[in-house]
Amino acid sequence: MRKLKVAVGKRRMHRTYPGAIYFVLIAFFEVVSSRDNMLPHHLKLSSTLTCRLIGGLTREQRSVCHDAADTAAIAFEGLQMAVKECQHQFRWHRWNCSSLLVKSSNPHASAIMKRGFRETAFLYALTAAGVSHAVARACAQGRLISCGCDPLGYRAAHERGRTRTNKWEWSGCSHNLAYGVEFSKKFLDVREKVDDLQSKINVHNNNAGRSILSSHMEVRCKCHGLSGSCQLRTCWRATPDFRAVASTIKRQYRKALVVAQEELNNSPSVLRGRPRGRRRSRARPAPKSSLLFFEKSPSFCEADPKFDSAGTSGRVCRIGRTTRTGSCDLLCCGRGHALIRKSSIKPCNCTFHWCCRVDCQRCQDDKWISICK
Ligand SMILES: *[C@@H]1O[C@H](CO)[C@@H](O)[C@H](O)[C@H]1NC(C)=O
Ligand SMILES: *[C@@H]1O[C@H](CO)[C@@H](O)[C@H](O)[C@H]1NC(C)=O
Repeated sequence: MRKLKVAVGKRRMHRTYPGAIYFVLIAFFEVVSSRDNMLPHHLKLSSTLTCRLIGGLTREQRSVCHDAADTAAIAFEGLQMAVKECQHQFRWHRWNCSSLLVKSSNPHASAIMKRGFRETAFLYALTAAGVSHAVARACAQGRLISCGCDPLGYRAAHERGRTRTNKWEWSGCSHNLAYGVEFSKKFLDVREKVDDLQSKINVHNNNAGRSILSSHMEVRCKCHGLSGSCQLRTCWRATPDFRAVASTIKRQYRKALVVAQEELNNSPSVLRGRPRGRRRSRARPAPKSSLLFFEKSPSFCEADPKFDSAGTSGRVCRIGRTTRTGSCDLLCCGRGHALIRKSSIKPCNCTFHWCCRVDCQRCQDDKWISICK
C-alpha cells in the first residue's frame, strides 16, 4: 500500500513540478530501499525517454508507457525474452524469428504481426505471456514501486481448509501474476482498438498466451522446524520457467484453429474455429488457450520483407530423414545443400605435470556442416 501511494504521488507531481520532484523521489527511494533493502534499480528517471525511442508503439501505448515508465521498461524486457524464446522454439523452422531481432526492441513493429498466419498467432500469445511473466516477477523482486508481492496468496490461506497432518500456509512473496496480466492487457491489447475481426483474433491470442502462463504457475514451498522436521511449510506462488510456457504455446501453434470462413463476413461475439484441413467439420467456439489464425502461411523459402521472411539460403540444416525437423530436405526447399568444412584449433593430447601444470598440443578440429543453397 505504501508503495502504491508513492507511485501516485510521483505521477501527479511529475506534471506540475518536474524540478522539485527529483529530490522528493530520491528521499522516497532512500526510505523504501533502506527499509526493504531492495533497490528499485530499474526505476530510471529518464525512462520516459525510452517511451519515445521505442519504435512501433501506438499513440495509446505511448501514453501507457509515459504513465508507467518503470513498468513499461520491464514489459520491454518481457518482449525481449519472448523474442529470444521464439528463436529457440523455431530454430529448425524456415521462419526462425531472427527478423524480429533486427527491427527494434519492439516485436510488434514487425510486418509479420500485421498478418494472420499461424506464426503471427504464436507471437501474439508469446509476447503477451512474456510481458505478464516479466512484470509479475519484477513486482515480487521489488523492482517496481507500483506493485509488490501478490496479496491474493495471503488471503487464500484463510479460504482453503488446512489439514493438521500437512500443515502449510501462504507466506513469503508470491509473484504478482494478477498485476502482470493486467499490465499486459493494458499495454498490449490497447493496440487492438479497431473493432474488426483481426483485432479480436489478436486479443484472443494474447489472452491464450496469458491463460497458458496462468495454468503453469507454480507453488513453491519451504520447510520450517527443528533440523528440517518440516513442522510448518510456507508456500508462495511463482512464475514458471518461461521455456515451459513457450513450449506449451508452441504445441498450441501446431494445433492452431483456423477461423471459420463464415465468421469473416459477420462480426461474431464468440470466435469460432476448426482444425486446419477439416473443412467439413463444424466450427466450434475456440477454447481459451487455443490459438487462432486466418491466413495460410507462405513457404518462407525465399526472402520477402512483406512478411519478414529472410529465406532459408545459408541456413545450417541436418542431413537425414525427410521428416526430421530441420532436415535439409525441408529446410532447403528442394534447392539442395552444400557441405562445408569448419575448422577450429582445439587443445589436445594434454599432459599433466606435478604440480600444477597442464601442457597441451594444438590440434586442428574439422567438422562438416551442411548449408542450404
Ligand atoms: C535464422 O535465419 C537467419 C536467416 O536465414 C540466419 O541468418 C540465422 O543464423 C538463423 N538463426 C538460427 C538460430 O538458426
Ligand atoms: C596425440 O598423441 C598421440 C599418441 O602419442 C599421437 O599419435 C598423436 O599424433 C598426437 N596428436 C597430435 C595432434 O599430435
